Amino acid sequence: MASTSIGDSVRPDPHQATPIYRQLYQRFRAAMLDGRLAPGARVPSVRSLASELNLSRGTVELAYQLLVSEGYLLPRGPAGTIVSPRLPRSPVVASEAATKTPSSVQPTAGALSPPPPLRLGLPSLDAFPAKSWTRLTLEQLRAQAEADLHYPPAAGHPVLREALVSYLGVSRGIVCRPEQIVITNGYRDALGLICQTLLAPEDLGWFEEPGYFIARERLLAAGMRLAPVKVDAGGLDVKAGCREAEQARFAVVTPTHQSPTGVTLTLERRRALLAWASRRQAWIIEDDYDSEFRYRGHPIPALKSLDHDDRVLYTGTFSKVLFPGLRLAYLVVPTTEIARFHAVLARLGHGCPNLSQSVVAEFMAAGHFARHLKRMRALYRQRRELLHEALVRHLGGSVHINLQAGGMHLLAELPEVSNDAIIARRARESGLGGHALSEWYLGRPQRSGLLLSFTNLKDARQTDDLMRRLARIVETTS
Ligand SMILES: Cc1ncc(COP(=O)(O)O)c(C=O)c1O
Repeated sequence: MASTSIGDSVRPDPHQATPIYRQLYQRFRAAMLDGRLAPGARVPSVRSLASELNLSRGTVELAYQLLVSEGYLLPRGPAGTIVSPRLPRSPVVASEAATKTPSSVQPTAGALSPPPPLRLGLPSLDAFPAKSWTRLTLEQLRAQAEADLHYPPAAGHPVLREALVSYLGVSRGIVCRPEQIVITNGYRDALGLICQTLLAPEDLGWFEEPGYFIARERLLAAGMRLAPVKVDAGGLDVKAGCREAEQARFAVVTPTHQSPTGVTLTLERRRALLAWASRRQAWIIEDDYDSEFRYRGHPIPALKSLDHDDRVLYTGTFSKVLFPGLRLAYLVVPTTEIARFHAVLARLGHGCPNLSQSVVAEFMAAGHFARHLKRMRALYRQRRELLHEALVRHLGGSVHINLQAGGMHLLAELPEVSNDAIIARRARESGLGGHALSEWYLGRPQRSGLLLSFTNLKDARQTDDLMRRLARIVETTS
């Protein structure tokens, strides 16, 4: 294939404030997106483009690296670098067509499609500080030493583990040492690791009813048996757990913001749960997935902060506070179990990419993280209000909304007899996200409702339109 001569159309402007490598990156990207550079086309070598544009090779290399890391370019060794064949052909045309005939346009194979509106579990993707993130990533990339190219430390990068010790101390009231922290590939990975290290197949555990179905599936896949323990306005009913499955080996809880109902575990129940675990030498797995987002009242310290007998395995995730594509979460293990965890980690050859861990650590150390959280809290408060108002306007007669203190979604409760699963399925078919509450039950569902995320709502108009569509579906589903 002939090399594409693209030099003139990507020539950077030395008078612009944007760094030269960034201009190059942007111009290449624009050329690919508007079809001037077709998928599969070969781009000039670093050396020839640098010489044609009178730039240093390092500058061109940096722009290419960025394009490669984002999937626009594909390096093929001595055969040169090409525009990724997976990029859609002239997607501008495709998106125009999509607005007219949505059903006839299939997503291009390999391209990631954007999540539907109201989709649960996602932070606000449009408000992520992508510029600072990219800058830090490039800085970390440039600073990479040989050791960074080695296999990552099984328990996590030391800089991130140390950053988390400070963060958890200040924001969650947890006193721990870096050796107690294990960086994992998401919460699910943390659960798998706990099962491998402290539990055995057939072990029985309490599981919130309703509860986070992905954790449930992960535990069942690891051979655990689960006893559903009902959740009411005070969170997990610890007395019911003791009555029905006192002998359990572990309990999984979301104490700050119960998933999915949003209630907070009362102090009395926190104490009762810890007392049960001490009495039975059972483990408590605390899933503290979105505690950073609280809109009224004081922040609630983690259950782990009351754990004087070291029975709690605390887990947090970067999926909500940064973005889930990162696949980074963390686990704080009891001091008595550090050696056991490290032995299992070494055997598994566990580890997460060094680069992303060091970028997160730097993001925290440089103050971006705290600023980002503050901005997101304000934004989510507004978007939550938008959703609440539109729900009341369009579905006020059919649903009950119990605004909880925090979280990233609302629960619109339907009368017990409603078929929320059919409503959620019809909503999905018409391009809306959201879940049916009944599907979060392990046993017979006791309540019915729709779980709707507000984090990615754009404005009042869009929210109003979404709720009008949802109301039509609710009204026409018997
Ligand atoms: C209740 C709950 N816990 C934990 C997580 C985090 O999971 P992960 O770290 O695998 O993204 C989520 C994500 O949606 C969640 O809803």
